[in-house]
Amino acid sequence: MPLGWAIVSTGFHPDLKVAPAIAEARDSDLVAVYSRDRGRAEAFAEKHGASAAYDSLVAMLDDSRVDAVFVCSPNSLHAEHTLQAARSGKHVLCEKPMSTTLDDAVSMVRVCRKQGVKLGVGYHLRTHPGHLMARRAIEDGVLGRLVLAQGQWGFGVRGQEGPPPRSGNRVWWDQPEMIGGASTMMGTGVHAVDLMRFLVGREVTEVNAMTDGQTDQQPLEQLATMSLRFEGGVIATVTCSRLLPDSRNDFTIYGSLGRVRGEATLWEARQGRVELVSEDVHRTEVCPDQYLGNFIAEVEDFHRAIEEDREPAATGVDGLRAVEITLAMIESARNGQTVKLDRVEV
Ligand SMILES: NC(=O)c1ccc[n+]([C@@H]2O[C@H](COP(=O)([O-])OP(=O)(O)OC[C@H]3O[C@@H](n4cnc5c(N)ncnc54)[C@H](OP(=O)(O)O)[C@@H]3O)[C@@H](O)[C@H]2O)c1
Repeated sequence: MPLGWAIVSTGFHPDLKVAPAIAEARDSDLVAVYSRDRGRAEAFAEKHGASAAYDSLVAMLDDSRVDAVFVCSPNSLHAEHTLQAARSGKHVLCEKPMSTTLDDAVSMVRVCRKQGVKLGVGYHLRTHPGHLMARRAIEDGVLGRLVLAQGQWGFGVRGQEGPPPRSGNRVWWDQPEMIGGASTMMGTGVHAVDLMRFLVGREVTEVNAMTDGQTDQQPLEQLATMSLRFEGGVIATVTCSRLLPDSRNDFTIYGSLGRVRGEATLWEARQGRVELVSEDVHRTEVCPDQYLGNFIAEVEDFHRAIEEDREPAATGVDGLRAVEITLAMIESARNGQTVKLDRVEV
């Protein structure tokens, strides 16, 4: 049976990636879209072949053809939209960052569990074949004892001092309350942090961050670097920025027996190569550029998670951990101190 999808909000991400990925994914139908504005919902539905356009979220969630909702609203609204969808009995794939507060993340996990619906978070890097190869090798002990992890996701426009402010429906990206108290961290940093957690396979215990923001004069940073200490002693460094036109969006994990290195894999498109070199293994995974590859895989994985009654590639708890790390990063950048994580058990 095809899975009936609905999308919340009609911004760039659903227009360029989510709706086209649903169209290409196996056994998936885009049934409906919700916008605050009826005209925008209708234009989006027509462009992407959805049967229904709604300007009422309640009405969309009443549509029995909708099985799963892809939440693509501004960050601070993810919780409200997820909770409404879950309480209507719909499965939810929520875009990253899952929420802007810890309380919201906890209720999202709890309510989805109580309602018996799946909750996934849009950490599409978990579906990249090179990352999956790296994780399997690490789990199999090919790198020995892990020591150091490094990851970076930056971008920028050559010759521009900084990113231009957003306008129209996109102004929320520059509003601390709506984006969640961090800028480049909320944009791409959370992906890099989640990838480190995914590959290292352990939880973060401490965060120390330095940014060019998190001050009264500049609340939102455009450059963030952070060190993360993991259980078992692995240390990671993560960098994200909107000021790096020529950013090398790579990762490396070093262990006592070797290393795995990804080149240009931290991106929206599925691309780049991952090379693993250890005592007796040399493996390379090269990914031809495929703009929608990770998003199609994310949509298909979520469908299989429902069918097989298992967790999706990135779970609600994975989303919650990224929120904890992000809030610690903001606090550390503000206070100039290392923040120890007190993980919430849900
Ligand atoms: N996984 C990824 O790689 C990735 C990439 C990009 C973005 N994202 C995530 O996807 C989400 C959407 O990003 P985007 O790039 O699509 O954003 P966007 O282009 O700024 O669009 C956001 C949409 O939200 C709605 N909206 C804006 N302000 C609102 C407000 N005050 N109240 C209610 N709704 C409002 C608008 O849709 P309507 O006018 O139709 O209601 C707007 O078009 C974000 O959470 C972002 O972090 C993920």
